[in-house]
Amino acid sequence: MRTLAFVLGGVGAGGLAALLALGSPTPQAQQAQPVADSIAAPVISDTGSLEGPRQPIFFRHDIHAGQFKMQCQYCHYSVDVSSEPGIPTTQTCMGCHLVVAGSDSSSRLEIGKLRQAWNEKKPIEWVRVHFLARHAHFPHQRHIKAMGPNACSTCHGDVARMPQVFKVNNVNNMGFCISCHVERKVSRDCTVCHY
Ligand code: HEC
Ligand code: HEC
Ligand code: HEC
Ligand code: HEC
Ligand code: HEC
Repeated sequence: MRTLAFVLGGVGAGGLAALLALGSPTPQAQQAQPVADSIAAPVISDTGSLEGPRQPIFFRHDIHAGQFKMQCQYCHYSVDVSSEPGIPTTQTCMGCHLVVAGSDSSSRLEIGKLRQAWNEKKPIEWVRVHFLARHAHFPHQRHIKAMGPNACSTCHGDVARMPQVFKVNNVNNMGFCISCHVERKVSRDCTVCHY
């Protein structure tokens, strides 16, 4: 099982909190609080059987957002202020991974790829999972303000338990948008989404 003490070794009890502060991308980003009783992410031996597109680095939401309880907005920093939620830069990752090298051979291998990208100053080309056709527009901030910071799972499923992100809902589907707008009495004007 992965535990904080094991991962951070000599860094000490306040270690992750300090790392979180160090890695903070923007002042308004939420600070994650390490919680001892969080559910340990499973060891995965066969990544080929996971749903969703394979990413250039095996970045695991179930470890970061699940086991270590990092807030979504720590990385998706603009989700409540912009239509684009934001994808973290390598610098955000390195706030921790300058120190956290990984506790087994597979995590060391993947963190090694991250460190190499950082050293070579190459941006990581994440494969996008959700997207809309260009004639439709989706403002994240309007939804987060109305539905709260934990609304992500309504559309994206329980990402905090996903080793690899996959589509739970086909969001590029007008019926998906309209059925919730009808339910919540939100505008269905064509021009709200198509402009
Ligand atoms: C440590 C940083 C970090 C945290 C914390 C984090 N994410 Fe992510 N997220 C990423 C990165 C990097 C990607 C792109 C790679 C991937 O898809 O796994 C991503 C991708 C995603 C995607 C897929 C985007 C697409 O291409 O469609 C969703 C949805 C998502 N995150 C939701 C969440 C939610 C919900 C939370 C909180 C429960 C969260 N993330 C917490 C870093 C993070
Ligand atoms: C707040 C600190 C923190 C931040 C920020 C962070 N990580 Fe991690 N990451 C960890 C910890 C802790 C582990 C667990 C290490 C272990 O047990 O091997 C981990 C594990 C990993 C692993 C190994 C996963 C596996 O298969 O075992 C990868 C790869 C990784 N992180 C990539 C990233 C990337 C990419 C980012 C930025 C998008 C990022 N991390 C941001 C703390 C962080
Ligand atoms: C009402 C549905 C809905 C909610 C709630 C929602 N999203 Fe999304 N998300 C979408 C749609 C639709 C897209 C595709 C948008 C596009 O292509 O313009 C998307 C795309 C994304 C992406 C990919 C963006 C990129 O640039 O690669 C990330 C990351 C993401 N969402 C994170 C989150 C997080 C984190 C939350 C919660 C704080 C959240 N979303 C809440 C519907 C939603
Ligand atoms: C789970 C419910 C839910 C889903 C699914 C959903 N929405 Fe919404 N949407 C809302 C709510 C609630 C608001 C109202 C926000 C407010 O009051 O400002 C909203 C507001 C909006 C607005 C702003 C409306 C205005 O009056 O300016 C747009 C644009 C929008 N949504 C587009 C979309 C699109 C595009 C999709 C599908 C990809 C989608 N929504 C899916 C709940 C949802
Ligand atoms: C809440 C957001 C929203 C509203 C309101 C909305 N649409 Fe859409 N619409 C979408 C999304 C998302 C798609 C999916 C993109 C796709 O399938 O090409 C879409 C797709 C479409 C398409 C392409 C369908 C296809 O099969 O290619 C047409 C045409 C369309 N909408 C017309 C309208 C008209 C006309 C109205 C007003 C009566 C309207 N839409 C209202 C979000 C919306």
